[in-house]
Amino acid sequence: MSAQYKETFDPESQALLSQDRDDTLSPRPSHRTFRVRHLLLAYTAGILSTVLLELFLCSHYSVSLFTGSHHQSPAYGDLASPDAGSTEVHNFPPASPTNVFPSLFPTDVGYAGPTPTGAEAALVATAPSYPLHTGAPHLLSPLSLEKNLSAMDSKPSFDIFKHWGNLSPWFSVERGSFGVDSGPEAPDTCRVTGLHLLHRHGARYPTEWASYGGPANFSGRLHNNAAGWNTSGDLEFMNDWTYKLGEEILTPFGRQQLYDLGVSMRMKYGFLLKNFTESNTVPVFRTESQDRMLASALNFAIGFFGFPYEGQYQQSITIEENGFNNTLAPYKTCPNASDRSKSDRGVAYVKEWAEIYLKDALARLRPQMQGYELTTEDVYTLQQMCAYETVAIGYSKFCELFNEEEWRGFNYAMDLYFWYGSAFGSPLGRVQGIGYVQELVARLTHTPIPVHNSSTNATLNDNPATFPLGHSLYVDATHEVVVLNVITALNLTNFAEGGPLPADHMPEHRAFKSSHLAPFATNVQFQVLSCSSAPEPQIRIIINDGVVPLTGIRGCPEDKDGKCPLSTFVDAQREIIAKTDWLWACHGDWSVPAGTAWNTTTGDPPAPGEIFS
Ligand SMILES: *[C@@H]1O[C@H](CO)[C@@H](O)[C@H](O)[C@H]1NC(C)=O
Ligand SMILES: *[C@@H]1O[C@H](CO)[C@@H](O)[C@H](O)[C@H]1NC(C)=O
Ligand SMILES: *[C@@H]1O[C@H](CO)[C@@H](O)[C@H](O)[C@H]1NC(C)=O
Ligand SMILES: *[C@@H]1O[C@H](CO)[C@@H](O)[C@H](O)[C@H]1NC(C)=O
Ligand SMILES: *[C@@H]1O[C@H](CO)[C@@H](O)[C@H](O)[C@H]1NC(C)=O
Ligand SMILES: *[C@@H]1O[C@H](CO)[C@@H](O)[C@H](O)[C@H]1NC(C)=O
Ligand SMILES: *[C@@H]1O[C@H](CO)[C@@H](O)[C@H](O)[C@H]1NC(C)=O
Ligand SMILES: *[C@@H]1O[C@H](CO)[C@@H](O)[C@H](O)[C@H]1NC(C)=O
Ligand SMILES: *[C@@H]1O[C@H](CO)[C@@H](O)[C@H](O)[C@H]1NC(C)=O
Ligand SMILES: *[C@@H]1O[C@H](CO)[C@@H](O)[C@H](O)[C@H]1NC(C)=O
Repeated sequence: MSAQYKETFDPESQALLSQDRDDTLSPRPSHRTFRVRHLLLAYTAGILSTVLLELFLCSHYSVSLFTGSHHQSPAYGDLASPDAGSTEVHNFPPASPTNVFPSLFPTDVGYAGPTPTGAEAALVATAPSYPLHTGAPHLLSPLSLEKNLSAMDSKPSFDIFKHWGNLSPWFSVERGSFGVDSGPEAPDTCRVTGLHLLHRHGARYPTEWASYGGPANFSGRLHNNAAGWNTSGDLEFMNDWTYKLGEEILTPFGRQQLYDLGVSMRMKYGFLLKNFTESNTVPVFRTESQDRMLASALNFAIGFFGFPYEGQYQQSITIEENGFNNTLAPYKTCPNASDRSKSDRGVAYVKEWAEIYLKDALARLRPQMQGYELTTEDVYTLQQMCAYETVAIGYSKFCELFNEEEWRGFNYAMDLYFWYGSAFGSPLGRVQGIGYVQELVARLTHTPIPVHNSSTNATLNDNPATFPLGHSLYVDATHEVVVLNVITALNLTNFAEGGPLPADHMPEHRAFKSSHLAPFATNVQFQVLSCSSAPEPQIRIIINDGVVPLTGIRGCPEDKDGKCPLSTFVDAQREIIAKTDWLWACHGDWSVPAGTAWNTTTGDPPAPGEIFS
């Protein structure tokens, strides 16, 4: 089973897309649009005569004049959403459209034609190899980087989409990436009897809160810069650029990611539904109340079950809000994690690293902006802007501003942020993941959670309707930080190899990569296996199609396919649960110094008595 079929990579269609983009982005048409649009705006602003003169007498000058004052145009004041800092907002759908006639558009008119179903797909069990998830359909990468093709296979030698840390669209990591030379397909002597899937939401707009960088903050700073500004050279496009991003919610591409993930999981694991038919039950999937979490789960469901999904499964929607116990949003239950300004240990490392890897970019870009002095944080934000614009509107001119090395640097900045903020380097990494681990153990052993002393929620977890045990299929939606918390809590210590990540240089080889572990729609498959080669059930963990070694978990043997006997795995997880002290980590009076004066590589806080100040 070594040959792998590639799922979506199609160099030809990528080339076609690039062609397309070439046209839409070529400066001439965009300037024309710009003039007409701004002409109208200027009318309203009452500066018609000057502008008309400028526009028609000297087009070069008119462009720069406009751009010098474009942020004072009505577009800014009237249409801006004050929260998101967007300079262009198209509030669709309208609040009360005039052409809505529900009686003329019934949703069920009958006459569906024949609807017999066939057998369930079972790619993970039956296919000659496993379909990989490559490329990001509908998104464009900058030509400047794409043109850097290796002569051998005319594939881009550098894939910018894989260098955005947690903002990367998820992709199948290369076989062996995590140290096990095996694929997600069932090993030869085994069949899959259960799947526990933990996934992240799809691509979203920037979050409201940013500790460093933050596209909306940058846009706001430009907007508030009373003196006005203008750009030239590589940054010239900013003169007629508007900030179009919303906040927090899924983008259309993010919606597609979850739909695709649902389709892909149905094709790989559809056979697990036979178990439900036999027991006359339907699956229970979980997500949280946040808009993008609910939208992600429902898009997954449409992909997995098809339309209409009603009646095929039940969706548990847990509440993500302060004070609500929720294993999929543990920071809302853990007071010591809820103050982000204190718990965001990663920021200091990102700042230090950004000063290093963006030094040349700052020197290059600063002279191209007049009236506003770019800082390192701004330049870092331009890289974020590239990723966010691309996953929201399909492409971004900001992507072209940086070279490969600077993208590798950006990717590493994300690794630093999440290593220290959510994973093995965070004193709150493990404790926040422990609630999900307790749930996993309960499901794997068909035994209810014995004590609720973490983020678990007795009301939901003790009720077999909302938290069923003994099912063959579970799907939970959460955030990337929680996926990283869970990886840490499970003791997947191979990702901690090499120790704390340094902020003064980028190690060439590192086990911990946020683009591999926590991209948009990242997904963790816990496979339960029955193998003729082993007397008892086995478990494997597969992250973004990469098989994870379980050898950091006490008792799990070296195994060529990454398997561990289920009972050994469960015993070790129970030991971890017993040794994790929620009360101390989340409520205890401990603190650690900022920076490198204190480290953890297990995601634990200092033990009681081990006080730092
Ligand atoms: C982001 O912008 C808000 C509003 O202007 C400001 O209060 C906040 O301090 C900014 N945050 C950062 C990290 O710059
Ligand atoms: C448990 O979850 C339910 C449903 O989301 C919620 O109403 C309840 O308040 C939660 N319990 C606690 C203790 O947070
Ligand atoms: C660009 O901005 C600077 C600083 O605000 C200003 O002095 C200059 O006149 C502007 N240039 C043009 C061509 O608008
Ligand atoms: C193209 O690839 C070469 C070799 O990998 C690299 O040195 C160069 O920086 C790349 N070009 C860009 C624009 O990143
Ligand atoms: C909620 O979490 C707290 C802290 O772990 C725990 O003491 C409490 O029992 C939990 N409540 C419920 C209803 O699960
Ligand atoms: C469904 O799967 C579970 C877990 O593998 C198993 O315990 C149960 O017996 C199965 N039920 C049926 C009806 O096959
Ligand atoms: C913490 O880790 C960093 C990065 O490896 C290292 O430079 C520093 O010396 C470590 N600090 C301690 C107290 O071990
Ligand atoms: C978890 O990992 C730590 C650090 O490698 C190790 O000392 C410990 O034995 C492991 N615990 C279990 C239960 O696997
Ligand atoms: C829960 O309580 C048990 C028994 O007191 C304890 O051993 C364990 O450490 C606690 N677990 C957590 C996650 O706090
Ligand atoms: C955790 O909470 C306790 C009690 O409020 C407080 O004394 C301590 O400083 C907090 N520690 C951290 C790291 O936030």
